[in-house]
Amino acid sequence: MQPQLYRNIGSSPICFLSICFFLGGHNLLILARDLGQYIQLGTTIDDAIGEAYDKTAKWLGLDISRSGGPAIEELAREGDAESVKFSVPMKQHKDCNFSYAGLKTQVRLAIESKNINAEIPISSANSQDRISRAEIAASFQRVAVLHLEERCQRAIEWAVEIEPSIKYLVVSGGVASNQYVRARLNQVVKQNGLQLVCPPPSLCTDNGVMIAWTGIEHFRVGRFDPPPPADELEDTLLDLRPRWPLGEELARGRSEARSMRTARIHPSLTSIIQASRQPHI
Ligand code: KG4
Repeated sequence: MQPQLYRNIGSSPICFLSICFFLGGHNLLILARDLGQYIQLGTTIDDAIGEAYDKTAKWLGLDISRSGGPAIEELAREGDAESVKFSVPMKQHKDCNFSYAGLKTQVRLAIESKNINAEIPISSANSQDRISRAEIAASFQRVAVLHLEERCQRAIEWAVEIEPSIKYLVVSGGVASNQYVRARLNQVVKQNGLQLVCPPPSLCTDNGVMIAWTGIEHFRVGRFDPPPPADELEDTLLDLRPRWPLGEELARGRSEARSMRTARIHPSLTSIIQASRQPHI
């Protein structure tokens, strides 16, 4: 049996074996079994939740100087979340993938039907107009997060089948700083006897830091290329990976609704690490 890696996230020490839920400009659900050993449970088919928050905020005429998410979170506190009927995306697809393009369209139509003019900033809207905007913000947020809750529940069920000893669900990315999102996901996680781990909001935003930190972890266990020779030619070709899958996709998680771009698919990080561990014959 492999020793399990423990790391600190915020103040909580967590076991590496966990489900990771990335919520930002891209949504991903990953079962992390060890450093570099990942199984992809679900991914984004079209728009991610962050994009839906940003567009909704823009169409509602909110102040998006701190991005749309915080503006919607704030306004949603004023509105009745049951007042506008939006349908939860991808109900019929029993997988862990995400789609927010349809919900965005529903929101745009609701905004048009209530004659909300995004040119008039919310700070200048009359009270009835403000109520209408808050109702849309709250109803959008409720349904957007219901989609996450559903996917999260299924991902836990799948992950527990593969790794029954799993204890943690780690949520990160810009949208993970949203208090409503955290509270709702915490309920799902608790109902399943797991623990939710969220980095502090100040650490929920910068992907660059996450990538650099991952590099440090791999470096620590000796996974790095030797530095280039001093006499390396200037026009040496490097293999760049603009879209590098973390792990193998779980077969049952592959979506029929998916229009994945197939160009430039590279072997995943997990499969490269596994191949490097095979004894050379
Ligand atoms: O993870 P992230 O910084 O970027 C990328 O993945 O590129 O996420 C950015 C997203 C933006 O769409 C932003 O609106 C959203 O995170 N976001 C929030 C909140 N804070 C940032 N969404 C909802 N509620 C928030 N409080």
